[in-house]
Amino acid sequence: MCCFRIIQLNAKKSSPFIIPALVGAFILAGSLIVFFQLSSYQAQIIESNKDDYTKVIENTISRREGRVQTISSGIIGLYGSSERVSSAEFDRFAQTILGSNSEILNLFVLDGSTIVESYPIKEYVGHDFDFLFPDYPTVVAGQKAMTAEFAINETASLVIAVPFGYFIPEGTILSEQYKLVLLSPIDDNEVLYSVAKSGGASGSVVELLQKEKDNAITVEYKTNLFGHKLKKYYDLRYVLWDASFEAQSYEHTIILVAGVVLSFVIPVLLVRTNLLRARLQEKSEALERANEELKKVEKSKDEFVTMIVHDLKNPLLPIKAYSEILLSQKLGQLNEEQAKRLHSISTSAITLQKMIQDLLDANKLELGKLRLDIQEGNLSELVRRTMSELEPEFRKKGVAVSLELQDVSCRFDSMRMGQVFQNILLNALDFVPDKTGKIHISLKSEGGNAVITIADNGIGIPKDKIDGLFAKFYQVSTDKNRRYGGSGLGLSVCKGIVEGHGGMIRAESDGEGKGTTMHIMIPLAGKSA
Ligand SMILES: Nc1ncnc2c1ncn2[C@@H]1O[C@H](COP(=O)(O)OP(=O)(O)OP(=O)(O)O)[C@@H](O)[C@H]1O
Ligand SMILES: [Mg+2]
Repeated sequence: MCCFRIIQLNAKKSSPFIIPALVGAFILAGSLIVFFQLSSYQAQIIESNKDDYTKVIENTISRREGRVQTISSGIIGLYGSSERVSSAEFDRFAQTILGSNSEILNLFVLDGSTIVESYPIKEYVGHDFDFLFPDYPTVVAGQKAMTAEFAINETASLVIAVPFGYFIPEGTILSEQYKLVLLSPIDDNEVLYSVAKSGGASGSVVELLQKEKDNAITVEYKTNLFGHKLKKYYDLRYVLWDASFEAQSYEHTIILVAGVVLSFVIPVLLVRTNLLRARLQEKSEALERANEELKKVEKSKDEFVTMIVHDLKNPLLPIKAYSEILLSQKLGQLNEEQAKRLHSISTSAITLQKMIQDLLDANKLELGKLRLDIQEGNLSELVRRTMSELEPEFRKKGVAVSLELQDVSCRFDSMRMGQVFQNILLNALDFVPDKTGKIHISLKSEGGNAVITIADNGIGIPKDKIDGLFAKFYQVSTDKNRRYGGSGLGLSVCKGIVEGHGGMIRAESDGEGKGTTMHIMIPLAGKSA
């Protein structure tokens, strides 16, 4: 337990930068390792490729079994991104080919159509250089020659020219009756070279087979020469020297760049998150503390209010009782002036008592301590009783009250619901005009509820004020406000009581000067659980 606390304290104090810095360092180290690994792997591949290709060239160029193979080994080229081939490499390549293939007449590099390097004689070439295996032999040094062109880059290419006679041995096939097709080993067997001079009476190619395997094409053709079938095999070997020895993939560079970027970005994001989390933590702790404080203050305030309000009630009792006794004149005759003053004392004491009672009730409601004593009873009777208690007040003001009461029995707290009706009726009385004031009370049972409406023709309530009516201490402030003030607690207490019955209360008014109707609804069967 003790250890756990120490660890917690340490964790709390640890800087928000340490872990992000470590993460950043790991990412950076990881990407560096990957970068160097991949780079060295690529370098190894390049080296081994260079070795392999060099060996292949050197071996392939050695002649075997006659001319055709020799010539075919001339189909060796630099292709691809040879801009990376150094001139030393190219020289070595050219010399290797020329040195070991005496039949090769020419080896030169084209830049567009210009010869930029030539081995050995430029003027031997008798045709333009738009040939990539032309459909007729090129004439080089007065001889028909086969040429193979290999792109070095976009503008430059390497051309290897070989006397055609070596390829199609003169005398073996008469020049007018041969057909030879060379298919590209690399481009999906695209026809690279095709020579056909058919139509002569003496013969034509009757069969041509071509197989490709292990860097070699075997061409087998049969021709019909002067009625004799002739079978000939060509074994065309080729080696493609891919000179693009430099690393072509950039993955390792991308990984390094991404690693460097992420090693900064991720720690920054982590630090930001950590700082935000710490600030949030601090704030929520402060809020929690403030909340605790508030709860304490609230509790002591509630206790204080309850105590004060309760203590205020007590001194009122003798004031009210003695002023009533004095007013009854049992203790002696009062003159008119004395009686008037005593009456004023008595009324004020009653008002004060009501205010204190409302304050107490509102406080109880807030604390959830208002208990209702709900019993089966007759609601219409309660309305009638309340009305008759207030009747003198109504008569005094000359207000006409009409009742439309159905006999409704339901479950309610008689004292509290009486308080609700009294509050609402006194409000109505306060806001209707003298002499012409009218109040209509109706009660009916509807849809399992007792529905009470108390409508008056008083000053009404502006539409935008209706919603706030049931809030504590809320009073609509208009010039036409009532004469006797009030504390603004009555309706909030009514709402608490009605809702405590599982019912609802709402006010309705068409606006100022258009009267007010209060609607109360409580379930007949009492509050459902
Ligand atoms: N019948 C009504 N006609 C017009 N305005 C009303 C009516 N009933 C209530 N109001 C308005 O609603 C306000 C709140 O009423 P509520 O009964 O809560 O407080 P109060 O009557 O001002 O004071 P209290 O009832 O605590 O003595 C009133 O001040 C008044 O502005
Ligand atoms: Mg009131």
